[in-house]
Order: sequence, then C-alpha cells, then structure tokens
Amino acid sequence: MSQLETCLPAIIGHRGACGHAPENTLASVRAAAALGVKWVEFDVKLSADDQMIILHDDSLERTTNGSGAAAERRLADIQALDAGSWFDAAFRGERVPTLDDYISLLRDLGLGAVVEIKPTPGREVETGQRVAAHLAAHWPGDLPAPLLCSFKPASLAAARAAAPALERAMLLSSPGDDWHRIAEQVGACAVHCNHLNLSKIRAVEIIQAGFALRCYTVNQGPRAAALFDWGVDGVITDYPDRMPTRPAT
Ligand code: G3P
Ligand code: CA
Repeated sequence: MSQLETCLPAIIGHRGACGHAPENTLASVRAAAALGVKWVEFDVKLSADDQMIILHDDSLERTTNGSGAAAERRLADIQALDAGSWFDAAFRGERVPTLDDYISLLRDLGLGAVVEIKPTPGREVETGQRVAAHLAAHWPGDLPAPLLCSFKPASLAAARAAAPALERAMLLSSPGDDWHRIAEQVGACAVHCNHLNLSKIRAVEIIQAGFALRCYTVNQGPRAAALFDWGVDGVITDYPDRMPTRPAT
C-alpha cells in the first residue's frame, strides 16, 4: 500500500458532510470539519467556460435554484445561483464553489480530499486532464496529497498522463470479475465501490490483491462495522457522526 494510502482515515465525509449541509458547498466542508472529519470527498466538473466547479449532477435543478445543464452555463451564471436553500432555508446564499474555493477552505481547515472527477458526458478526458493538472500545480504543500477517483476510466487515464504522481482510485459501482483489469489499466492504488454491490468474497479478493478498498455511501454504523470486519479500509459517508471507529489491523 502506498504512503498516501496509509494516511487516509477510515471515515471520509461524502460531498463534505452532506447529511448535515447542502452537498458540495463550502458549508458542507465546514460541517464535516466540525464533526472532526479529516478527509472529505467532492465532485468536480467543468462549466461552459472550462472552469472547475464542485457539483454532482449534470443538471442544476436538484441542488440549486437554477435549471438546465451546468456544462452549458458559464461560471458567473452558475455562481449567481443559490445552492443552499433546497437543503434548508438556513443555508440560503450558499454558492456552487470552484475547485480553488475548495482548495482554499481545505487548507484553512487542514483537511485532506478524495477528489472525484465527475465529467459531463463527452468531456471525460478534458475534465480528467484539467483537474489533475490543476491539483498538481495548486494543491497546498502542507496538506496530504489528494486522492483522485472517477467512474470513468478515460478520466483517470487522462489524469494519470497529466499528473502521474497523484494517486488514483477506481470507482466501481458493482465490482465484477473484470475489476482488476479496469483498476490496473488506470494505475489505481485503490478501489471504491457501492457497499450494496460488494460481497465479502470480492472484498477479500480486492484487499488481497494489494488495493485499498473503500465503500460508499455507508450511512449506518452497523453496516460500516461489518465492512470494517471484512477488512474494508474506509467508508465514505453522509453522516460521519454515525460511523464507528475502525478497529486497528
Ligand atoms: O466517491 C464515492 C461516491 O461519491 C460516488 O458516487 O454518485 O455520490 O458521486 P456519487
Ligand atoms: Ca462523488
């Protein structure tokens, strides 16, 4: 296991701590930090003017008061939207952050990050390349290096070419018999998968092959404890405060 992998904690906040604050906002990162979380996961994609924004969906409807495809809107238009009220009126005025906004806040709070490259369809290579190159150039030296991840092998391959020193995790919703080939193709050090689709046999196989293994989105403490018992290294959770401590191995 790599040096970076050995320093990742077992509990990682999902989209910040999105059970407690609107996902992928600065408030969500602050909520994670307030809960004692040391690393957070978030999603990065490109706006129409090629700016890196923190947003999960391709469209703006669910998590902002805007509509339509984010990839067709310029950053200034996206940042005029309210990304907090949909979650709770107390978060009115939260904006869709840029990657630089996130980097700055993570540095202030001393948090590490699992950065998901979340391209809109057709922009897989471009998004992977831009995000990785930007992180390689601008990530604070006083934080642990970020761990990149994506469901898109093309994005991770582009990230690897742009910033080979940044480590990568392959996101697999359901790790099938071809998991090893896919992970190796992108030079991944870790596999992140949906816990609902992971068997104990597959978990053991991945771990014994030398990959770190994490599961998303685990929101129930007993389930996290069972996964830790299988040897799973970490869980990505909306509710870090509900997670048990991972026993030392
Ligand atoms: O990185 C794990 C998880 O965030 C992947 O699924 O849909 O929440 O981005 P999603
Ligand atoms: Ca994600």
